[in-house]
Amino acid sequence: MTAQLLRGKPLSDSLRRELGARARQLTEDRGTPPHLAIIAIGGDPGSQVYLRKKLEACREVGVESTLESLPAAITEAKVWRLISKLGADPDVDGIILDMPVPVPLDPARLVEAIPAEKDVEGVTAQNLGRLYAQKSWEAIKKAEVLVPCTANAIVNLILEAKVPPAGRHAVVVGRSTIVGRPTAHLLSSLDATVTVCHSRTKDLARYVGDADILVCALGRAGAVKGSWVKPGAVVADAGITSAGGQLLGDVEAGPAAERAAWLTPVPGGVGPLTVTFLLYNTVLAAERRTRKTLG
Ligand SMILES: NC(=O)c1ccc[n+]([C@@H]2O[C@H](COP(=O)([O-])OP(=O)(O)OC[C@H]3O[C@@H](n4cnc5c(N)ncnc54)[C@H](OP(=O)(O)O)[C@@H]3O)[C@@H](O)[C@H]2O)c1
Repeated sequence: MTAQLLRGKPLSDSLRRELGARARQLTEDRGTPPHLAIIAIGGDPGSQVYLRKKLEACREVGVESTLESLPAAITEAKVWRLISKLGADPDVDGIILDMPVPVPLDPARLVEAIPAEKDVEGVTAQNLGRLYAQKSWEAIKKAEVLVPCTANAIVNLILEAKVPPAGRHAVVVGRSTIVGRPTAHLLSSLDATVTVCHSRTKDLARYVGDADILVCALGRAGAVKGSWVKPGAVVADAGITSAGGQLLGDVEAGPAAERAAWLTPVPGGVGPLTVTFLLYNTVLAAERRTRKTLG
């Protein structure tokens, strides 16, 4: 078997067209486009390319963006004040704090300064709580939850494979707050039976080998061997490791493609969709705020 590739671009393109129309409608309704504020501290070189992609994507869809670039030596109190100012600004719909932030700033504490209705990465405790409070996929959509972008990208890409998760065994390798855990919850909301693995899991190969749907979000290039993959599985690889000028996923792509039915490429799979789901949340946040203010 040679896996069919689950590329992010087709779904991303169609979503961006839809978001463009919604952004134009918002601009007509309230006189201003949806507005995303990005706070970037210290100019981390690894983040610059993603930062540019976010700004380009905003332009493409008709979302206004403001980049607040701060020096690495800034105090936490000053960042907190900026977030509070943007939080209170009626012209700002979404706020993101670009990661990583330089030591000794505490990213978890700073993120909590973002008001939940403007937290378009869906990473505040309040938004994660809203996500976990909903049991079904439909309920999550109906409640207009701001879902963490990478998790949303992974699961929407898996749905493109037209292999319904209901009743299937989904294995998520990685349990981070922003990727692994919310992905596991989304797959459970689609009635998959979910196992979450992590660095202390014994015999990872056994779990991977039983996965009808496999999600890898470890950040360890090639740590998941292709020979472990269950024949016919749907494999979503969120991992990105930069090595020797190349971007590598967590799954050994060549051997995995010989066994899986569907596989997301790295690069070109989950990555492009993640930025699109950031725009998705920004437009959703703007629509929610506009409904509140215009009634
Ligand atoms: N495509 C995108 O747009 C996008 C967005 C965000 C992140 N990413 C990528 O996704 C990957 C994961 O990101 P993250 O933020 O979730 O990373 P993270 O916070 O470092 O979490 C990594 C997770 O993997 C687990 N893990 C590490 N080594 C393992 C091993 N050998 N076996 C099993 N589990 C292992 C860790 O277990 P413990 O909990 O036990 O430590 C942890 O739960 C990274 O490559 C990142 O660059 C991609």
